[in-house]
Amino acid sequence: MNASFLHHAFDSSFPENLDPKSIAYLNGEFLALENAKVSALDRGFLFADGIYEVVPVYRRKPFLWSNHLRRLVRSLAAIQLPSPLRDEDWTELVRQMIEHQAFDDQFIYLQITRGSAKRDHAFPKKVRPTVFAMATEFKRPSQVDRENGLKAITVGDERWLRCDIKSVALLGNVLARQQAVDQDAHEAILIRGDVVTEGASSNIWLVVDDELLGHPKDNLALEGIRYSLIEELAISCGLRLSLRKRSPADLARASEVLLSSATKELLAITSINQKPVGQGRPGPVFHQLREAYDRAIDMECPKAELSEAGSSAG
Ligand SMILES: Cc1ncc(COP(=O)(O)O)c(C=O)c1O
Repeated sequence: MNASFLHHAFDSSFPENLDPKSIAYLNGEFLALENAKVSALDRGFLFADGIYEVVPVYRRKPFLWSNHLRRLVRSLAAIQLPSPLRDEDWTELVRQMIEHQAFDDQFIYLQITRGSAKRDHAFPKKVRPTVFAMATEFKRPSQVDRENGLKAITVGDERWLRCDIKSVALLGNVLARQQAVDQDAHEAILIRGDVVTEGASSNIWLVVDDELLGHPKDNLALEGIRYSLIEELAISCGLRLSLRKRSPADLARASEVLLSSATKELLAITSINQKPVGQGRPGPVFHQLREAYDRAIDMECPKAELSEAGSSAG
């Protein structure tokens, strides 16, 4: 049936900034990203009934993979979706995804939805989950971002009450982040009532009275994979850290504000709502933790050694 009169509404071109030939994975098959197609009946599309992970890879080695795997399994359990793969199969999938890509530093994106079925809110009886993975090049935060820090705005946190699940239902985060972009800022810091919860796509850390403060591990924020890392790094740097609810007043008097995520790693926020944080420059706690973060990457994803064959070749 010809519906060409509707075509003006639909642009089928492939996104310009993605490589259509890059290798993705969909339901048991490696294929070109441009060929990875999912049914319009997929519950991920209809209900955002699914979860995801973003795994950073440095020098072809996944960083903190076992923690990502644990969170993936936890997210699946939280939405009562039996894991379609065993732990060792997830690990193998990530290994093969990395191998298929040209870049040394990359992100592996994993998404699992409840699959495709007749539209009905309740779980379908017999359905195969959809498993999708893609990779993109990881362009690490620039030197300018490290030296100048990022701009943020504050936005009311209007999301649901299970922000601890890494769910693909991100509309609240999307709308908050867009407000930041519209105001020429990088991130939106979310505030629920009297609590600073997290960023639209990051965790937020405050330095108040020489103490590093993170949101508690509860339902109001996602426990980023950098949580346990920052806890470890803080100890190694001799910094005091506590996880407790932070108020907008804490945010206003913080001498430093930091943001962490897989994509932004660890960066300072140096202005909020166009007012400088502290001196308006990344501060000493940021510098200490940032160096420790770089060392952690080097430890877990070391630079390749010259191979025996390579070193004796001359
Ligand atoms: C809402 C939210 N909070 C926190 C984080 C940080 O999590 P991670 O350190 O695992 O990247 C993210 C990352 O995307 C996020 O989207």
